[in-house]
This record gives sequence, C-alpha cells and structure tokens, in this order.
Amino acid sequence: MRELIEELCSVYGPSGQEERISEAIAPHLDGLVDEVRSDRLGNLIAVKHPTDGGGNGKRIMLAAHMDEIGVMVTHVDAQGFCRFTTIGGVLTSSLIGNRVEFANGVEGAFGLEGSAIARERPTLQKLFLDVGATGKEDAQVQVGDTAVFRSSFGAVGDRLFAANLDDRIGCAVLIQALRELESSPHEILAVFTVQEEVGTRGATTAGYGLEPEIMLAIDVTATGDFPQATPMEVALGKGPAIKIMDRRMIAHPMVRSWLESAAQTHEIPYQLEVLEYGTTDAAAVQVSRAGVPAGTVSIPCRYVHTPSQVADCNDARNAVRLLVNALSSELP
Ligand code: CO
Ligand code: ZN
Repeated sequence: MRELIEELCSVYGPSGQEERISEAIAPHLDGLVDEVRSDRLGNLIAVKHPTDGGGNGKRIMLAAHMDEIGVMVTHVDAQGFCRFTTIGGVLTSSLIGNRVEFANGVEGAFGLEGSAIARERPTLQKLFLDVGATGKEDAQVQVGDTAVFRSSFGAVGDRLFAANLDDRIGCAVLIQALRELESSPHEILAVFTVQEEVGTRGATTAGYGLEPEIMLAIDVTATGDFPQATPMEVALGKGPAIKIMDRRMIAHPMVRSWLESAAQTHEIPYQLEVLEYGTTDAAAVQVSRAGVPAGTVSIPCRYVHTPSQVADCNDARNAVRLLVNALSSELP
C-alpha cells in the first residue's frame, strides 16, 4: 500500500494535465477488471462486472481524482520572473519557501516582492516564481505552463508526507480495493477522475455518462487533531471517515448506513465526518440526471492543499477493507 501511494505521489498531474498519472495508474488495473477505457475528458474508467448473481446488485460508481492543485504562469517579465495564477484551492500563505516543478522538469522557487519573508498572508499579486532564468528569452517556461508542488515523499512509521496525498492516496485505495475485491453482486464502475480540484468537472461528465445507481467518492478530508485546529471529530489513525455532510453534499442515509454496517460487521475502525468547507466528486454525481444516492469514504489528512500533507497509512488500509466489505454486500 505504502509503495503504491509513493509511486502515485511521484507523478506530475495538475488539473487538466492528467495524462501522465492516468498512464501510471492504467497498468495497475491490468487483469483486475473486465474493461479499461478513457473518456473524452480523460477520466480513466475501469469496469468490473458482477461476479455473483442473485440480481440484487447495483451499478456503483467509485471515484478518486487523479489531478492535483498547482500553479499556471500568466506572465514572464524581462528579468525572467514569472507571475502565476492558481489551479484549484492553493493557499498563498503556504507558498514561501516551497518549490514547484513544471512538466518539462524546470523548477521554480516562490518569491515575495520586497522581502523573502511574509509577515502576513501574501496576496497572489505580490508573489512570483523564480525559474532560474536570467531574462525573458532565457526562461524555459511560458504563459500557460503549469507546475505542481514538489516535495519528496516521506514516511515516519505509518505517517506519510507528500505534497499531493490529495488525492493520490485515494487513487491508491481504489486500486487496492479492486485488487482485494474477490466477489461482488454489483457492477463496479471505478473512475479515476480529472479536474476535481477546479470544480469536480471530470466526475460531472463521467457521472452523467455512466448512469450509476449509487456513487461513492474516495478522497481526503480535513482533521481536527492538531494544535488549535478548527474543532472537527476526525483524526489521523482512527480509521476512514464516513461522510455525513460537506459544503456541497449531504450523504444519502442509505449509503451511509450501508458503509457503517460494513464497518461494524467487520470491526473496521471508522469515524463520522462533517466537513464545513470543501467537497468531493460525490457532490457532482449526486445531482446528475434524476439524482444518484451518494456518499464518501474519506482518508483523514492534515494540512490539505498545502505542499506538505500528512496522512496515516493505516487509515488507507482500513478504507480498502471498508470498501471491499461494502462492495461485497448488498445494499440495505
Ligand atoms: Co483537494
Ligand atoms: Zn481531493
């Protein structure tokens, strides 16, 4: 599990440029499912037909997003410094002292007008990227080029550190669940989605096209377990969180109780999640067509949307167990 998370975290893939991460995930699906395809926007879709009959199965869409937050160059000045805009919910207060990497391997260091140290949260307008150029002609990046946060993958015991655990850890959980799922009465539509971070766009079209009867997102969620955190009853290491509500979705009670009873029956630790900001691909699919009962299995993650995110590998392992047991059973 840890190796798979590390592998996926090492691949470049800001929203809108998910080709490399899609190519990295696809080989892991070989032999696990009946069909793998990409749709027109780049969502990677793996279909696994029901393996035990009875006819009580549903069409269940599972979604983990492949894309990650990043920055995009808006202007290169005469000295070769780049101004940029954000791709997804990038926090400007977390940028100083960090680096990004462009698709072509060029690195960029964040700078702040007037001083290297921010006394307060800097506005986007006061920040720039130093891409190692001595002038505009010399810069190896241009307007429209994108970069992702670069930090080496780290681990201390079961605690994992990376810039893009959101949502590569969810992609790893989905792959591992497909590996471990031996039999299911359901048609499984496992989707590695594009462009979640800019507004759940890939899930919107995939959800429409696939017409699922039930939908589950697998994504990270915030925690309330660090100094003076906003109170929230989710902590690292206490199991996957079953979402009750976030900013754009109220989980369907039937989906929630299906997940809770799978956890209880198999003694899998879990937490209940109410997230007061942010959402997941489930929000988009829930309101697709005539409506899809939806829920989310969340992996607790500290410092989400900063270049240093921290999660616990045991929560990922237990998220896999939760998914496998739920998917092996009928819905209530
Ligand atoms: Co995110
Ligand atoms: Zn996410």
